[in-house]
Amino acid sequence: MNKIKTLALLLLFTCFFTTLAMADEGMWIPMLIGKNYDQMKKQGFKLTPEDLYNINKASIKDAIVSLGGGFCTGEVVSNHGLVFTNHHCGYEAISANSTPQNDILDSGFYAKSYADEKPVPGLYVQFLVRIDDVTQRVTDALNGVSDADRGMKLQAISKDIVADATKGNGYDGVVNTFFSGNQYFLFIYQKFTDIRLVGAPPQSVGKFGGDTDNWEWPRHTGDFSIFRIYGNKDGQPADYSADNVPYTPKKFLPISLKGVKNGDFAMIYGYPGRTDRFLTSYGVKMATEETSPVIVKLRDIRLKAWKEEMNKSVDIRLKLSSKYAEIANYWKYFIGQTEQLKALNIYEQKQREEADFTKWAADKPAYANLMDDYKKLYAGYAPYAAHRTFINEGLLAPGFVINVLNTYYGLRALSNQKDNAAAVADITKQIKQINESYIGAYNEIADKKIFAQLMATYYTDIPQDQHADFIETIVKKYGPGNPAEAFKQFADYLWANSKLIDPEKLKAFMQNPSFDDLANDPAVIYSVSVNPRIYAKNVFGSKISDFETQKAHLDRLYEQALLEKNAGTLMYPDANSTMRISYGNVQDYTSKENKHFPIKTDLDGVMAKYKAGDSEFDLPPSLINAYKHKNFGQYAENGTVPVDFITNDDITGGNSGSPVINGDGELIGLAFDGNWEAMSGDIAFDKKYKRTICVDIRYVLWCMDILGHANNLIGELDVHKN
Ligand code: ARG
Repeated sequence: MNKIKTLALLLLFTCFFTTLAMADEGMWIPMLIGKNYDQMKKQGFKLTPEDLYNINKASIKDAIVSLGGGFCTGEVVSNHGLVFTNHHCGYEAISANSTPQNDILDSGFYAKSYADEKPVPGLYVQFLVRIDDVTQRVTDALNGVSDADRGMKLQAISKDIVADATKGNGYDGVVNTFFSGNQYFLFIYQKFTDIRLVGAPPQSVGKFGGDTDNWEWPRHTGDFSIFRIYGNKDGQPADYSADNVPYTPKKFLPISLKGVKNGDFAMIYGYPGRTDRFLTSYGVKMATEETSPVIVKLRDIRLKAWKEEMNKSVDIRLKLSSKYAEIANYWKYFIGQTEQLKALNIYEQKQREEADFTKWAADKPAYANLMDDYKKLYAGYAPYAAHRTFINEGLLAPGFVINVLNTYYGLRALSNQKDNAAAVADITKQIKQINESYIGAYNEIADKKIFAQLMATYYTDIPQDQHADFIETIVKKYGPGNPAEAFKQFADYLWANSKLIDPEKLKAFMQNPSFDDLANDPAVIYSVSVNPRIYAKNVFGSKISDFETQKAHLDRLYEQALLEKNAGTLMYPDANSTMRISYGNVQDYTSKENKHFPIKTDLDGVMAKYKAGDSEFDLPPSLINAYKHKNFGQYAENGTVPVDFITNDDITGGNSGSPVINGDGELIGLAFDGNWEAMSGDIAFDKKYKRTICVDIRYVLWCMDILGHANNLIGELDVHKN
């Protein structure tokens, strides 16, 4: 599952706002995995904890990378830096390299030599060097600091810790917060920025089933793509250069063709982005009733407008499809999450747990009122929750807004840093990348329509007494009494008068940009007023930030209390885009409706879903042909090719592309999705229903080898036949 990354770009130049488990459930910190070892062994793991995580010699952690800061995970599979990840993780890189004349998104592509591999500007991977527990140093620094000042102070001490740990070694460091501020760990990374696209199946394989099958099992998707890490001749990270060479990793994963059966040990090693397992019943209610419906409704508007355009030509489809897929993915996620939170009675389940907790806490003054405090806090915030969600999903959603903000704040940073050559180069490069990605997915008709419709929805859906003044002014000036028309007119005005919206004008302006010239640009004035920090302060005063500060305070207390209550048992912290291990088994399931779901699918199933010419269920001729001739190579099982399988491992967005590893440490698949029956999983892990959907490594190799004739790549792999 890949993480939501829409907002990532926004955070570059400006800072806006500032469970008890058995195996299968749980995302464990690799450094502490020894604590789980007995259980892992019992379930079928045959290696040692040191084989998983070791800072003194190569271990499996050295074969795992995060992509682009954690939107996905990849694994090194050859001694020449070859990396496997999901197709949907490579989607942007694949579509950016596609044109109607050389349409690798639709036709697939395997580089025949290093020279054929395609640079992907902006993409980077990080290896984890080590983890340090820095809880003591951080908590000492935070001792006595007020809730309101905690964020700033944490930032300052983290900066010191990172500076100490990375001095002179070229590494990056991050201090991450665990258990909502009860523990802190330092993560040290080595970052490689020359990453090249090496291969991908046609999207009819890589995205087979499309949005219809997305988030559902049984599945028949070949969700993989292939990249390579390049470094300089000394094996060190270096920006793209024709002189760079494939990187020799400390460790790469061997591949097993043995396959899987029900009950087999399976472990997933990667970068889960975010879970909310300690969310209270009050938070669950707010999600289902206030916030998720807003997300779904607003994403609908964007998806419809893009789809209309995408149907017009291949060229437009290639331009918009990556953005479309990303928004569609979490559109369906929130529909499923809401449905399953209700179907599995998660609110009621949490209420029971909280009643238990309150009983336990009755004689502990620090915790006795916690649930009451949560209740009051959420009740006070409820009237504004939908509006708060509208900021990210509505006000910031038109493509130009983020681009304008980043360009504007970027140029401001540039003018402040004129004398710092390194900063100038870095900021210039970042602005350029942001502008390019904006222009790459620009479509005037869709973009204008989306802006006008989102704003008209704001006008009708947000209570009148919460409307921002500047939005009222727009309606009065451009179409009194007819907000839909007013925002259309206003869009025309912005497009005609801004230097930053229309790609040609943007490019011309950026030839010789002047920050001072932007002060009166109408798109700058508009975008700055929807900058969340500025907008929230103007419209809500301190209501939003107070809620966030107080919630952080209660969360820290609640998780501290749970750590105390469950002392002596294993607990895992929420996902936070740091490296984790999840382990469990290949496992079938039976739904609430008593439908049994077997552990795997195969090529016969792919063919059964095949619909010629369909946008989601079409197949490439090469596949149909190989199927007809039973050309299965060494990848067959029971007279067909295995395609996908499921395990009960605990993953979430960010884990997409993660290796699925057997008890011997061999790669057996790539994790890529979750199942519909457990879409509430990020908030409550349901052991009966939650499964991880993986592409079988034999399907990956069959596609590369038999369909793609990628002998050169297959030759690099360490393939174990049994
Ligand atoms: N649901 C998958 C995930 O979050 C992504 C699948 C991409 N496919 C698609 N049809 N959008 O990782």
